[in-house]
Amino acid sequence: MKKVEDYIRSIPDFPEPGIIFRDVTSVLQDAEGLKLSIDEMVKLLDGVDFDVIAGAESRGFIFGMPIAYALGKPFVPVRKAGKLPCETVSQSYDLEYGQATIEIHKDAIKPGQKVVLVDDLIATGGTMEAAAKLVEQLGGEVVKMIFLIELAGLEGRKKLAKYDLASVVSYD
Ligand code: PRP
Ligand code: ADE
Repeated sequence: MKKVEDYIRSIPDFPEPGIIFRDVTSVLQDAEGLKLSIDEMVKLLDGVDFDVIAGAESRGFIFGMPIAYALGKPFVPVRKAGKLPCETVSQSYDLEYGQATIEIHKDAIKPGQKVVLVDDLIATGGTMEAAAKLVEQLGGEVVKMIFLIELAGLEGRKKLAKYDLASVVSYD
């Protein structure tokens, strides 16, 4: 039987020289790959007590939403700057390539809520660190971070050492 890693496509030198881009579109465009990837991510939440799933735009939406649906939990989108219509809190951060700002609606997380953060991939950990700061600013508690792919060589796990973090597939 095929494993999740068998569906991931690796593209050298995208979006810039020296980066190996781990592409999840090849997972999603295969019905079995899609089901397997969501099922494996759901398994990472076995025994985790939580109230809300939050996912970072845009690939965090793709994976976060079906997981929330499968587990009967609400989904909160963490969006790139300027997209959310109501009052927000913001955080800027650095990526493997470039810089970004993300935002969350102030009423999206209630104080004391236990939050799971979801993304397709962790590279430097900058996105998740910023997302966690937003959740915490609103009084939420990040109880777990889950990813389909971890780029272990970039040591995002070190940056996020105070969080409980799990991934399905890891690359050096
Ligand atoms: C990618 C990826 C993660 C982030 C990981 O998103 O989906 O969110 O980078 O990198 P980091 O661990 O160094 O923060 P990107 O910002 O490229 O946006 P996209 O999902 O819209 O493609
Ligand atoms: N986001 C940040 N680094 C990435 C990589 N190497 N592949 C896919 N998405 C990424």
